[in-house]
Amino acid sequence: MQDDDGDGQRIPAVEALIARMTLEEKVGQMSQRAYFAHDREEALEAVRAGRVGSFLNVPDPATRNELQRLAVEQSRLGIPLVFGRDVIHGYRTIFPIVLGQAASFDPELVEAAAAVAASEAAAVGIDWTFAPMIDVSRDPRWGRIAESPGEDPHLTAVMGAAMVRGFQGSDPAAPDRIAACAKHYVGYGAAEAGKDYNTTYIPDGLLHETYLPPYRACVEAGVLSVMTAFNDLNGVPATGNEPLVRGVLKGEWGFRGVVVSDWASMTEMINHGYCADLRAVAQTALRAGVDLEMATHAYRDCLPALAEDGTADTARVDDAVRRVLELKHRLGLFARPYTTDYAPQEPTSRALKVAKELALRSLVLLTNDDGALPLSADVESIAVVGPLADDPNEQLGCWAFDGIRDRTVTVVQALRERVGDRTTIQYVPGLTSPLDTSRAGFVEAVAAATAADVTIVVLGETADLSGECHSRAFLDFPGAQVELLERLAATGRPIVLVVFAGRPLVLGRVLEHANAVVYAWHPGTMGGPAIVDVLFGDESPSGRLPVTFPRAVGQIPIYHAFKNTGRPPTTGFRGIPAGTPLDPEGFETSYLDLEVSPEFPFGFGMSYATIKYSELVLEPSHAPVGHPIQVHVTVENTGTRVVDEVVQVYLRDLVGSVTRPVRELKAFRRVRVEPGQRRRIQIELDATAFEFVGLDLKRVTEPGRFHVFVGGDSTADLCAELELV
Ligand code: NOJ
Repeated sequence: MQDDDGDGQRIPAVEALIARMTLEEKVGQMSQRAYFAHDREEALEAVRAGRVGSFLNVPDPATRNELQRLAVEQSRLGIPLVFGRDVIHGYRTIFPIVLGQAASFDPELVEAAAAVAASEAAAVGIDWTFAPMIDVSRDPRWGRIAESPGEDPHLTAVMGAAMVRGFQGSDPAAPDRIAACAKHYVGYGAAEAGKDYNTTYIPDGLLHETYLPPYRACVEAGVLSVMTAFNDLNGVPATGNEPLVRGVLKGEWGFRGVVVSDWASMTEMINHGYCADLRAVAQTALRAGVDLEMATHAYRDCLPALAEDGTADTARVDDAVRRVLELKHRLGLFARPYTTDYAPQEPTSRALKVAKELALRSLVLLTNDDGALPLSADVESIAVVGPLADDPNEQLGCWAFDGIRDRTVTVVQALRERVGDRTTIQYVPGLTSPLDTSRAGFVEAVAAATAADVTIVVLGETADLSGECHSRAFLDFPGAQVELLERLAATGRPIVLVVFAGRPLVLGRVLEHANAVVYAWHPGTMGGPAIVDVLFGDESPSGRLPVTFPRAVGQIPIYHAFKNTGRPPTTGFRGIPAGTPLDPEGFETSYLDLEVSPEFPFGFGMSYATIKYSELVLEPSHAPVGHPIQVHVTVENTGTRVVDEVVQVYLRDLVGSVTRPVRELKAFRRVRVEPGQRRRIQIELDATAFEFVGLDLKRVTEPGRFHVFVGGDSTADLCAELELV
């Protein structure tokens, strides 16, 4: 296995240090300790003795500086520590959850948000975030879908690379940047049955085509670290997977950064039944290519003895240490180990602006009957109902531990701010929380809705119903929320539903009881003002679904890049009973009791205008394999409002030596279209767009016919054909 990057690229200062290190000190650099107040004294001692190279979750900059001072001034070699923390969708200023960010289809803005998060975290001495999470997920039961950019490898790769650029900038040592970490390598998002930490089985072709490319994109964007996952993949724990870590990541892709385990994912190889004891854990992880052990102590306790008796490869130990020290070097920690001027930071106006803009662009308008939205500026009275309408915590989402609560602007606050004295706002929660099953608040809520011109209802999931270890078997609105909505709808007054959630929920009946539905994910600090801008039409909604919305849990996994099968569905819902194998009428890939189509397809989202696509031309439409293709399409705004449209390009390879999906997202572009404007849009499909992973796991483009679909979602029917020869 290839590990090191060749003498030419080595950093002399790092090499000089390695030459002076004892085995124990080397193993110290391979250990990342979780900071807990209860074992503080032991932690201080470990730093002094050079037995720890990194910390995560140190609570404040003063403690970080204190630990750093011990490392730099009192440990034998004075090697600085590197401090990690989960800065996932914001640090102090909280942006929409990553799934919501992906809905923006706006990588520049996502990059800007990561840069803001980096500057806020760096200001208090955080050197390294464990983000981006780029696990493709096609199962909304899995709570961590909230942290991911969704189901599609292209969108995930684009968003992951954007976050890497945002966190690290062009120089990660700059005072406002931090190191990024692509996680969780690999396949974690395919957890069976959507249960967190569960086993994954991913055929090699699918792994290489769908799950690995976002990691490759992050490596190409220069990500400084990669985290190995908890799951076992095809029978091998990801943290002990030598072919994937040392083979693909470090070998084939030439990744030169640090591979860190997930929290205890090394020692959990014992639970997986893959390692017998701690010694085997240390040996397996080392051999697989894990450079730094997070939270547990297999390396610390076992590696020195294993190296001394020749069981562990000492060249691999040096390689791991080199990677960790190079990370510290790239972060400038040898030159500037301490954090100064760390007075508590308030979000800057720029941070809040980016947070509002990203929240705005993440909002997906799912339905809008008879133009219920936008609201008229001179509406006289608005009722607001729902436990999430004025809760500064819940709108922040699942990774907002360091977020500033008192800067959150809720829907109710933003509405009041916007309408002033012109419009009466009456807020009645109706339920004490989304989990509440009591109907006690319904009467007051219904009275408010009856008296108002329009009712804005904010329902969905609390932040803690998604995220790590927060999977769900039902994807409905918990508690008595649907019943509340039904009662409100029964007033006959217009109802606008805003949904906060960490995943696609099964909307079903909910759709019948609302005149318009805005899906807001968990929109973060500035969610309220963004939602209000969309409700009043200051901005047209422009978010698009980064994940398919099922009609029922039974449809999962459901995603747009499915295969056609030998019996593609044509009849849809057939009802029970149906034919028999002897009378195979309608024997197709379908359900007896539900349509096969999703509730809302990938890429879907409405705006306040109608966009017409036409004149699709491919240039050239006949080309040699390897030739880039220009896609030209006319986008016309036939409405009366300016909108942002996300032009999406999907490809179908009609015949392949491996069966191909019916659609694959290959490119997208956000464009602004004025009322009445016709814009000619050009999008390039480069040569790689036509590649797929062959049976030999190599990327190949096969000559033949392709269909290119362009439009506003993954069901777009405007199509042109091209042939590669
Ligand atoms: C476990 C999670 O899986 C991972 O995403 C996170 O970065 C670590 N804990 C550290 O908090």
